[in-house]
Amino acid sequence: MAESMKGLHRTHRCAEVTTANIGEEVTLMGWVQKNRNKGGIVFVDLRDRSGIMQLIFENGSIDEDGFEKAGKLRSEFVIAVTGKVEARSGAANENMATGAIEIRVNSLHVLSEAETPPFPIEEDCKTKDEIRLKYRYLDLRRPDIQSNIIMRSQVATLTRQFLAQEGFLEIETPMLMKSTPEGARDYLVPSRVHPGSFYALPQSPQIYKQLLMCSGYDRYFQLARCFRDEDLRADRQPEFTQIDMELSFVDVDDVIDVNERLLAFLFKEVLDVDVALPIQRMTWQEAMDRFGSDKPDLRFGMELHDVSDVVAGCGFGVFTGALDNGGSVRGLNAEGMGDMPRKKIDKLVDFAKDFGAKGLAYLVINEDGSYKSSFAKFMTDEQMAALVSAMDGKPGDLLLFAADKNKVVYDVLGNLRLEIARQKDLLDKNEFKFVWVTEFPVFEWSDEQNRFMAMHHPFTMPMDEDIELVESDPGKARAKAYDIVLNGTEIGGGSVRIHQDDVQEMMLKALGFTHEQAYEQFGFLLNAFKYGVPPHAGLAYGLDRLVMLMAKKDSIRDVIAFPKVKDASDLMSEAPQPVDPKQLEELGLEIEKTEE
Ligand code: AMO
Ligand code: AMP
Repeated sequence: MAESMKGLHRTHRCAEVTTANIGEEVTLMGWVQKNRNKGGIVFVDLRDRSGIMQLIFENGSIDEDGFEKAGKLRSEFVIAVTGKVEARSGAANENMATGAIEIRVNSLHVLSEAETPPFPIEEDCKTKDEIRLKYRYLDLRRPDIQSNIIMRSQVATLTRQFLAQEGFLEIETPMLMKSTPEGARDYLVPSRVHPGSFYALPQSPQIYKQLLMCSGYDRYFQLARCFRDEDLRADRQPEFTQIDMELSFVDVDDVIDVNERLLAFLFKEVLDVDVALPIQRMTWQEAMDRFGSDKPDLRFGMELHDVSDVVAGCGFGVFTGALDNGGSVRGLNAEGMGDMPRKKIDKLVDFAKDFGAKGLAYLVINEDGSYKSSFAKFMTDEQMAALVSAMDGKPGDLLLFAADKNKVVYDVLGNLRLEIARQKDLLDKNEFKFVWVTEFPVFEWSDEQNRFMAMHHPFTMPMDEDIELVESDPGKARAKAYDIVLNGTEIGGGSVRIHQDDVQEMMLKALGFTHEQAYEQFGFLLNAFKYGVPPHAGLAYGLDRLVMLMAKKDSIRDVIAFPKVKDASDLMSEAPQPVDPKQLEELGLEIEKTEE
């Protein structure tokens, strides 16, 4: 029978009780982890979010009725107990924070009973993800998930504390808004009052925070929910949270400075990790050339080598063909992996093909200095020797080459580099390697749309010396944009914004907007800028990604209380769902039936 809280007051959480409390009477409340009934004595592990405490029920210390109830406690019953803190009667349990003490219970209240959960509530849970997510409220009881969620709360609180101290104001911006051009697909919300019209959920508060700068708020931040209808991955959810900020009267270095100090503060407070400042910076071009990625993982080396000059004029058509097409030939040295069996090398070739490679040329340097290679027959001995030397190849090494357009070569080798690092077990989650990637291109050519697209967004300021290029040679223009990368994950990104209308006009033209289209889409921002706009810049972190890395997890699902799965559905609530036809009618919507 479930009892009420009448007269009961919790004095501590389980793991808050220490040896210093021995002799005191405490009242604890929580869930029964396990119950060992040894006849005359019952041991119960009590769990709450702080940890576990051993309870001991013995006939005599508790009345007969209480003792009988204790014997019947089952896993996940919710109970309240009062008792005396004692040193463990048995041997202390070194594995438990509270292992040196126990509570001798004199009063027990069963606050609620529980059915047997579909999986055990334990640290190490082997249950399938689908089951865990269906019963997420139980999954969230597990200590490892709880510690992630608690860490997330800590990060949020400390962020607020730090930014408030730095003079930032926390300001909320609308969830129901007009779509902003952030690049992903919008989630739309139909309007009942304006049938046929839709709000968009924010992909980010970008435009609003720029408006707040126009309005004089100077330094803004928000822990902002963002919505993007894009394909999900381990580090992507359809709704996620940004630590979003914007500052007035600043340039790149000012934004970087305050954010480095924020990161150092968070890592020190939460993990006791010292982040050495200043954080290393690398231009986008350097990151691509050395690591094949704009989010380089610097926990290991294995840098790319450009061997275009070395193989120019060689007899291997795959290499010279790529060079003739304006591409390049680059390679990776998988040091000491020359003993990889042919089958595994073929797997790497398939892996490369997944990233658009037409093939992957390889070269193994045997211990006797001879080669095993897919292309040696096309090359002279001198050309092979020059290639090996350019790659710093030693006996026992495996050299891998991609020849194609630069974009493909970077993508293939950048991903291959990570795959080999995984195989060599080089990715240590306890190591934190930060890097700022700067000077991103302003534009990215889209074959699909046959036009330039903004790499960050259309309000990103070109570098002072590249402003002219926006008109004359858009592909070469670099931006005052920066990403903060941690262990190969982009945890945040931002830019200095355009505040001059001539530059903005130039940008929008390069992006293919007519004057009218530009005003139709974000006229309210362009108009606002006519009334006195301060130079401003900002940045947003993916809070989920940041906490995922701090908690040393592989997926942001592990740090989001109620995440969605790959097809963007929620296995617990079973959203999304069809709605009542009445609701549709009110909204003036009709569902067109389509054949599967
Ligand atoms: P951006 O689009 O780079 O910039 O987003 C900022 C950061 O948000 C995180 N992020 C995501 N996290 C989880 N799931 C997703 N689907 C997802 N998409 C992005 C990333 C990313 O670095 N308004 C600009 C910021 C600015 O210029 O100030 C913006 O949104 O960690
Ligand atoms: P092929 O002449 O097509 O049989 O290719 C010879 C070798 O070159 C094979 O090992 C292919 O995997 C490799 N190869 C083919 N295309 C490329 C490419 N674009 N870059 C690197 N290697 C390639």
